[in-house]
Amino acid sequence: MANTNLSNARNAKNDEFYTQYADIEKEVAAYIEFNPDVFRDKTILLPCDDPEWSNFTKFFAQNFTRFGLKKLISTSYAANSKKYKSGYQPTLFEVNDPQYDEYKTVKNGKIFTLSKDKTGDGKIDINDLEWHYLQDDGDFRSSEINELRDESDIIITNPPFSLFREFLAWIVQAEKQFIIIANINAIKYKYVFPLIQENKIWLGFSNFNKGMYFKVPVDFVYADSYKFEKIQNGEKVNRVPGVCWFTNLDHGRRHKLLRLMSLKDNLRFNKNLKGKESYDHYDNYDAIDVPFTDAIPIDFDGIMGVPITFLDKYSPEQFEIIWQASGNTRASAPKEILERLNYRPHPDDRGGCTIVNGRRTYDRILIKHRKFIA
Ligand SMILES: C[S@@+](CC[C@H](N)C(=O)[O-])C[C@H]1O[C@@H](n2cnc3c(N)ncnc32)[C@H](O)[C@@H]1O
Repeated sequence: MANTNLSNARNAKNDEFYTQYADIEKEVAAYIEFNPDVFRDKTILLPCDDPEWSNFTKFFAQNFTRFGLKKLISTSYAANSKKYKSGYQPTLFEVNDPQYDEYKTVKNGKIFTLSKDKTGDGKIDINDLEWHYLQDDGDFRSSEINELRDESDIIITNPPFSLFREFLAWIVQAEKQFIIIANINAIKYKYVFPLIQENKIWLGFSNFNKGMYFKVPVDFVYADSYKFEKIQNGEKVNRVPGVCWFTNLDHGRRHKLLRLMSLKDNLRFNKNLKGKESYDHYDNYDAIDVPFTDAIPIDFDGIMGVPITFLDKYSPEQFEIIWQASGNTRASAPKEILERLNYRPHPDDRGGCTIVNGRRTYDRILIKHRKFIA
């Protein structure tokens, strides 16, 4: 297969990763803990879902009353429009409903809404979901789903991997609150990083070091990482490394300050710096290289380059993010930032990577303490 075809096929498959209930529960609990009213009287939209089996739909429907929701809307993308065709079978839930339509079940998206106690059993839960076919295929870019976006307050989902850029832009344009799943590499994208730097979006609560296991279609064969595939709670799941949550809803972890040692103590006691007498200084930036987040010296007043994984521990009260140094980033950096960093192009820095003694380091984020502790 040609390279492009292969990568298209991989992207299509990656679009069909279904989020597990426990992962949603763990992430959402952090927002509730920080602000118990975060979802009160809010309309939540779950686009890019398959509401009959989506754990996002199940989770928010089951917690509708506890969270004080006004309305839950969940939409699905038509089976025929999906890039990865996986022997679609309508669920019994749909087939047994009088509105079942053999044609629409593959051609149209579906919408599920929850706002009232339809069954009259005194509570609002998953049994009260009402549904119908959408007019179109449920593409999040369609006018039908745009209207739902505009009606909602918060958008929550694991969007199609292959359309992540468009999806984020779709939310940001409408100035909505959101909690979404993405690949950690998205941090470096030209249109994402400035939002992180300006504290307009940030990482969610769950630590991304371990990656996440997602449910995959039964006929799913993911050659590149099959060794990570396993059966969990009777379902086929696949590990996706480097996955994280992006959000603009606040949570407690981002206000927890990192406990750090002085520069001198790091060089003396930090095992990660064993054998070093000083921190390296970049050839092309006025900044020191800090190869591990736990080695950030508390008493260094200058600019420091830290690994991307730092963002998992980042608190805006403790640090200022100045820019990123991950190649091709120079082009999108405002001139005054490059001046502040005293950036001097290096023939091997691929447009911005940090260089130590003539060698490129891993991708870095350039930061500075907000308050200098002498
Ligand atoms: C990564 S999966 C996640 C599904 C679900 N949100 C979950 O986490 O369980 C993304 C879903 O978006 C669907 N999708 C792909 N392109 C879409 C589009 N243009 N509009 C809406 N949904 C789309 C895919 O078919 C897939 O079911």
